[in-house]
Amino acid sequence: MHSVVGIKNKIHTPHLEVRGGYPLKGFLKVSGAKNSSLVLMAASLLTKDTLHIKNTPKLADIEVMKSILKTLGVKIQITGDEILINARDIHEAELPEQLVHSLRASFFCIGPLLARLGKTKIPLPGGCKIGARPVDDHINGLKALGAKIEIKDGIVSAFITTKNQRLKGANITLSCPSVGATETILMAASLASGTTEINNAAQEPEIKDLAKMLNNMGATITGAGTSKIIIKGVNSLRGTIHNVIPDRIEAGTFLIAAAITRSTLKVGPIIKDHLTEVILKLQECGCRLISDGENITIIPGEISGVEITTNPFPGFPTDLQAPFMALMITAKGKSKITEKIYESRMQHVEEFRKMGASIKLKENIALIEGVNKLRGSLLTGGDLRSSAAIILASIAAQGTSSVFGLNHLDRGYEAFEEKLNKVGANMVRNHNIYKIKEDIIEELGTPNKLETEKEAA
Ligand code: UD1
Repeated sequence: MHSVVGIKNKIHTPHLEVRGGYPLKGFLKVSGAKNSSLVLMAASLLTKDTLHIKNTPKLADIEVMKSILKTLGVKIQITGDEILINARDIHEAELPEQLVHSLRASFFCIGPLLARLGKTKIPLPGGCKIGARPVDDHINGLKALGAKIEIKDGIVSAFITTKNQRLKGANITLSCPSVGATETILMAASLASGTTEINNAAQEPEIKDLAKMLNNMGATITGAGTSKIIIKGVNSLRGTIHNVIPDRIEAGTFLIAAAITRSTLKVGPIIKDHLTEVILKLQECGCRLISDGENITIIPGEISGVEITTNPFPGFPTDLQAPFMALMITAKGKSKITEKIYESRMQHVEEFRKMGASIKLKENIALIEGVNKLRGSLLTGGDLRSSAAIILASIAAQGTSSVFGLNHLDRGYEAFEEKLNKVGANMVRNHNIYKIKEDIIEELGTPNKLETEKEAA
């Protein structure tokens, strides 16, 4: 029976039973980028025309964003991986706090709403529990563009007081290259009067993807993908068709799945430049990677410990820190992982230790001594990327793991277990509800059965 630490007597929702030790083989298909899709959906608020966004992933976060936009009067139709959005009849609305808190990206709506309606109220955002994640750069950026902003009881009220009801171009320098703040300012400044310059802008591929779509909608943006972006404001934007870039974090997670199981896998489609640092680190630790343009094949050798430090793009992505740590706990020798973007993104360390990993944690630095074997355990993912990392460790472990916290996984990975099972992994999702008592997992029944019992009581 698994040993249980710290989660006794709690009710746990669906979990994955992961049987470890199966080699992987074949091709893993990468979906469209979650982080692009979310901001592109918010950008629909900037035009009265219809946006047609293709190659979007099927994720819980996308559904939450859909619900938030619908509250504002946006019409949305999702068919397969395509989204049709029309925001012609938007109106001010009290956004449901619960939805906004569950999705940090919902805050992306503030810039477009302000630019279109001249005023908006939006609760402070939520998202993964990986640090304080303030929004000061978003707010200061909008203030620099002329918005008046008040924050009271967790609600941000923003409005434009100029006669023409337009924001005004400005020179803005971000205190840190925040992805979200760069996107908020980019969207708001597209409809401002005059020119805006964003210095110390984030350079992530998702920013370039957003700028590409905005330009196709009639915006005039140059420099996206560099640290200085220039936006010449226009009066209005029109609809367009846009293809979302492949999800570089999902692609990186799959490459690590291959490495951790010492299996050869082909992963694609990818844009190689989006994964430069990840590919370098995988090569450094002992993998061979061969790209054929659209796809990449990974052939792991003996895996040795390396050092990684997370940094803004083009540095090693913080979103792959937990998955890469899963690989390092199985590597030969020592490795060192430094998390520089978020102050508390190390929830996975405790779970890896339950599996037999040897990790010393000093604040945001993990010092790892690789082990030959991991053992299947009872595990809980505390945030999106931790959940994926724990599952990767589980498919490489001996024995069976029960992985809880799938609500996090489902936020950001499309059909994670189906995709991995197709190439040889062995995972089954159990939808029943459980209580963990001492070392025993007690099955309480199916969600429907529990609901009926509750009603009867
Ligand atoms: C986005 C990604 C997330 C990724 C992160 C960093 C989306 C939906 N999410 O999140 O997956 O982990 O980029 O690559 O695109 N900060 C401030 N003030 C601000 C804004 C941010 O100090 O106003 C700090 C944050 O606390 C954090 C760092 O900047 O330490 C990076 O945050 P940011 O780039 O804004 O991340 P998100 O856009 O929230």
